[in-house]
Amino acid sequence: MCEKKPFYITTPIYYPSDKLHIGHAYSTVATDAIARYKRQRGHEVFFLTGADEHGQKIERKAKAEGVTPQQYVDRIVATFKDLWKLLDISYDHFIRTTDDYHVAAVQKIFKQLYDQGDIYKASYTGHYCTPCESFWLERQLVDGKCPDCGRPTEIVEEESYFFKVSKYAPALIEHIKTHPDFIQPASRANEMLQNFLLPGLEDLCVSRTSFKWGIPVTFDEKHVVYVWLDALSNYITALGWGSDNDANFKKFWPADVHIVGKEIVRFHTIIWPIMLMALGLPLPKQVYGHGWLVLDGGKMSKSKGNVVDPVKLCDRYGVDAIRYFLLREVPFGSDGVFSNEALIKRINTDLANDLGNLLSRTVAMIGKYFDGVIPAPGVTVAEEDDALIALANATPANVDKQMSEWHIPDALNEIFNLVRACNKYIDVTAPWVLAKTEEGKARLATVMYNLAECLRIVGVLLVPYLTSTPAKMFEQLGTPENLRSIDTVAFGGTVAGTAVVKGDALFPRIDVEKELAALDAEMEAQKAAAEAAAKKAEEPAEEPIPEIEYEDFEKIDLRLAKVIACEEVKKAKKLLKLTVDVGGEERTVVSGIKKWYAPEDLIGKTVVLVANLKPVKLCGIESRGMILCASDAADEKLSALTTLSEMESGLKVR
Ligand code: MSP
Repeated sequence: MCEKKPFYITTPIYYPSDKLHIGHAYSTVATDAIARYKRQRGHEVFFLTGADEHGQKIERKAKAEGVTPQQYVDRIVATFKDLWKLLDISYDHFIRTTDDYHVAAVQKIFKQLYDQGDIYKASYTGHYCTPCESFWLERQLVDGKCPDCGRPTEIVEEESYFFKVSKYAPALIEHIKTHPDFIQPASRANEMLQNFLLPGLEDLCVSRTSFKWGIPVTFDEKHVVYVWLDALSNYITALGWGSDNDANFKKFWPADVHIVGKEIVRFHTIIWPIMLMALGLPLPKQVYGHGWLVLDGGKMSKSKGNVVDPVKLCDRYGVDAIRYFLLREVPFGSDGVFSNEALIKRINTDLANDLGNLLSRTVAMIGKYFDGVIPAPGVTVAEEDDALIALANATPANVDKQMSEWHIPDALNEIFNLVRACNKYIDVTAPWVLAKTEEGKARLATVMYNLAECLRIVGVLLVPYLTSTPAKMFEQLGTPENLRSIDTVAFGGTVAGTAVVKGDALFPRIDVEKELAALDAEMEAQKAAAEAAAKKAEEPAEEPIPEIEYEDFEKIDLRLAKVIACEEVKKAKKLLKLTVDVGGEERTVVSGIKKWYAPEDLIGKTVVLVANLKPVKLCGIESRGMILCASDAADEKLSALTTLSEMESGLKVR
């Protein structure tokens, strides 16, 4: 086991501007797998994630919702945390760029860069893409639009502070050229050099005055710090840089790897290293730009035809199935396509058939042929056993080799190679034939031992990637605690005599046809609901009701009434017939509240009655008065009014 070397890994901090989709979960689940892998290999890991809460985009969204930006981000950030909890993300710290310590440290960075002459005040005229929060020069636009997202940009003309990034460009170019690991995959390094660094960097606008939702520049308060300068700083402020307690900074900086999506590699490999150079701090060892998970025919954010809500996906298929798909499906670094069909296929093939069946067959056979106890190996057949044992012994190193370059899908493939080899081993050794003779049983003992032992090794190797499956496997295999760690993966750890425990299938097989039909139906329902909501949004807002005089109000005779009997009006879908007592007088009132109340919910309750409403006949019953209820515009929620404390019926309500 290696010494406890610190390992610092980060995800991007997310914009709390919308609900997260399954593509967003991709960066975080991948980072989590690496963090767990490093912990398993004995490192002291600091895994950072968080929320990037400032900027014009957030300010506009909050305004549109009629709430303050802080209220807006608080609401959305809570949903991020729920999602990371659901996906078993093992972060060590969650930073919010609205946290006090971060705000103070960013202000310190800005002041330091200003004091040393790297930031200066001038006037900016140029293009700004608000969704990407990025500045562009005229010549960088593509067809007059943002080259990253293709959306229209806005012309920004304001007094700004500028960061002399051009001063540090030669040193950065040199660093990239002499540190081939700094930007990975290597193709992205080339892209940064060719498209941005070699053509020449313009000084970067690093403050804004046309909106307020940002970190104020301490010495010029009408300016707020440019959101990317603010956000990138999180990687050191989270470690306590610039605060009274920078022990984590001393221990963990420089970062071992920043995992980021490909579209933000530019910020992480140009602006961020230049900020660090200007601050005199070491650069991160690596920035890894992974690809995008897209939908067939479009971006995830424009999703129409697939279920891409990670919460729904986890509910439907389980957290480990979703983690497995995200980690396995797409070569890390490349783009890949998400579809429900691809997801179901992965679950069925790898998880249900290959892994799940192997475990259940092995445990069932040990149950049937050896009374549920893993036997000591008996007769060996070199050409059948040696290759399997050699593969089991080679797999941990094969996984390490892939993980040394963050090839997560290939690392999983190495583990599943062993799973597939076990299944083949069953086909070749045919345990059901061996079980028929005494001689065969001695051979069968070896086969069962080898399978159980390989499965234990598979379980240990899967620990960084799947968070509940390995424990379920160990339970069924009877693996004791001390044989679940990475330093026990050499073949032969399992002790003969260990009792196995039959359990549920790890991953139930999904009926593809049925599942796709169910998903289609769900999509239709979602579409209909979205259309109904859009239609509602288009309806003109309700006119405000004009003021009235007190005398107008006095015309309404509101009284407390006690419900003494209540029944459904048989012929009517919506109506209940109530008998109420109003200060000794009995009345019948018909009310359209059957959807929300059963008769027994109301009997004995005190309600508020409009007592002088003209009687009407409803379904042939004369109704004398109306029960007051509060309800929403869509009539989805409704509650009858009552009093806070017990009061006699007949009392006036005013
Ligand atoms: N706030 C910035 C990051 C600042 S880091 C100092 C940001 N936030 S984001 O919410 O837009 O994106 C967060 C991460 O999700 C990015 O790594 C981004 O690439 C990733 N993804 C968003 N959609 C994605 C897919 N469809 N597929 C894979 N990753 C995607 O950028």
